[in-house]
Amino acid sequence: MSKVDVLLGLQWGDEGKGKIVDVLAPKYDVVARFQGGPNAGHTLEFDGIKHVLHQIPSGIFREKTKNIIGNGVVLDPFVFKKEIEKLQQYNLNVKANLFISKKATLILPTHRLLDQAYEKAKGDNKIGSTLKGIGPTYQDKIGRQGLRVGDILSDNFRVKFNELTDVHFRILKDYDIQYDWRELESEFLDAVSFLKGFNLIESEYFLNRELLAGSTILAEGAQGALLDIDFGSYPFVTSSNTVTAGACTGLGIAPRHIGEVYGIFKAYSTRVGSGPFPTELMDADGELMRKEGKEFGSTTGRPRRCGWIDLPSLKYSIMINGVTQLLMMKADVLCVFPTIKVCTKYQLKDGSVTDMVPYEQVNEKITPIYEELKGWNTPLNLNGVSIENLPGELNDYIKFLEDQLGVPISMVSTGPDRTQTVYRQLKVA
Ligand code: GDP
Ligand code: IMO
Ligand code: MG
Repeated sequence: MSKVDVLLGLQWGDEGKGKIVDVLAPKYDVVARFQGGPNAGHTLEFDGIKHVLHQIPSGIFREKTKNIIGNGVVLDPFVFKKEIEKLQQYNLNVKANLFISKKATLILPTHRLLDQAYEKAKGDNKIGSTLKGIGPTYQDKIGRQGLRVGDILSDNFRVKFNELTDVHFRILKDYDIQYDWRELESEFLDAVSFLKGFNLIESEYFLNRELLAGSTILAEGAQGALLDIDFGSYPFVTSSNTVTAGACTGLGIAPRHIGEVYGIFKAYSTRVGSGPFPTELMDADGELMRKEGKEFGSTTGRPRRCGWIDLPSLKYSIMINGVTQLLMMKADVLCVFPTIKVCTKYQLKDGSVTDMVPYEQVNEKITPIYEELKGWNTPLNLNGVSIENLPGELNDYIKFLEDQLGVPISMVSTGPDRTQTVYRQLKVA
């Protein structure tokens, strides 16, 4: 029996998951998304073209890879249709290689409206949601009134749809949100018909059968561990379990079938949306990171907040995910800095020093304590070269992080393209 390897972000999302899933996909028979939905924006780059995927797994460009949208995902049919249409120009065999769980929850247009309404009502305390309807859809799922992909096949889908949207309209009337329901409803129902043309399956059976047959499976996380509903900086989080355990519930895979856990992180930190960010730089260095790293949201285009790497947070993420290998992204971006800072500890309001993430993050004043390393200060233009060719200072940085984090860094990414990847000792299930 083979294993399911899990790849997930250890920070606040946008670590480069899409790129690495695409790079690793040829080593796997199946790539499966297990949580989140169109709030994700996963970028892949090859042959000079940049692709951004939102709901479709990042193995879709590899012709031999089967791609699964698991039961833990919230799926917006309208966004899905647009995504598929965008892919049509590349002559991929999407219909044959994409399988969608009947148990995935549907995002209705009213969920997007509710997301907007709730955010607007929060004023200055808004989460900074992507407004894709994620929170309200998971609310309905947990509240046992959601609609699922499998429901679109039933004769009374329209009745169920009307019943749930009526519930939403009753809530929406208390908020000042403008919308054209006729248009939203018609584009949704049109997209639902489109969705019916795809392989709608019981993905837990599909995946377990694949495991029995010896296929290798890569679970593709969305968002990041620090946005997890339980372990992130609540309430400034997303509404799903983004951690390894989420791959079990979001795919119907038993914990004993989990193999390698790839934890992916940027050589620095970014966050988009509101919420605590201890190492955030509000100065010229932060500006430079944003510019060099092109740190603008793949889904919303918003500027990402930037700062130095944060080891207490990374240690926390490694712990709750059981990370076995680390993958460091965007090393090239730091080449503009003569000195690189690493936050190794936090000082709290009461003067105490810790390397743990405190319970109270929102109202706590967390001051990062930094160690400084010499930067490599030279552009990294490395296409698939070996580790020996990395500048000495970058190797020192990698070794320092490995030492602090206690987990090997098995891959280093030096640019957005598929080929700009340096392997160290990557282990695949
Ligand atoms: P994801 O959500 O984790 O898949 O990450 P995003 O796609 O939202 O954001 C990562 C961004 O960084 C994308 O624009 C990628 O093309 C880009 N990227 C990925 N790896 C590297 C890298 O090593 N260097 C640079 N400069 N860009 C990278
Ligand atoms: P990928 O998969 C970065 C953030 C939002 C907001 C919070 C809640 O591309 O890494 P939501 O729409 O989920 O209710 O928003 O989470 N967020 C992300 N930030 N990358 C993502 O996905 C994100 N998905 C959600 O900005 O702060
Ligand atoms: Mg992203």
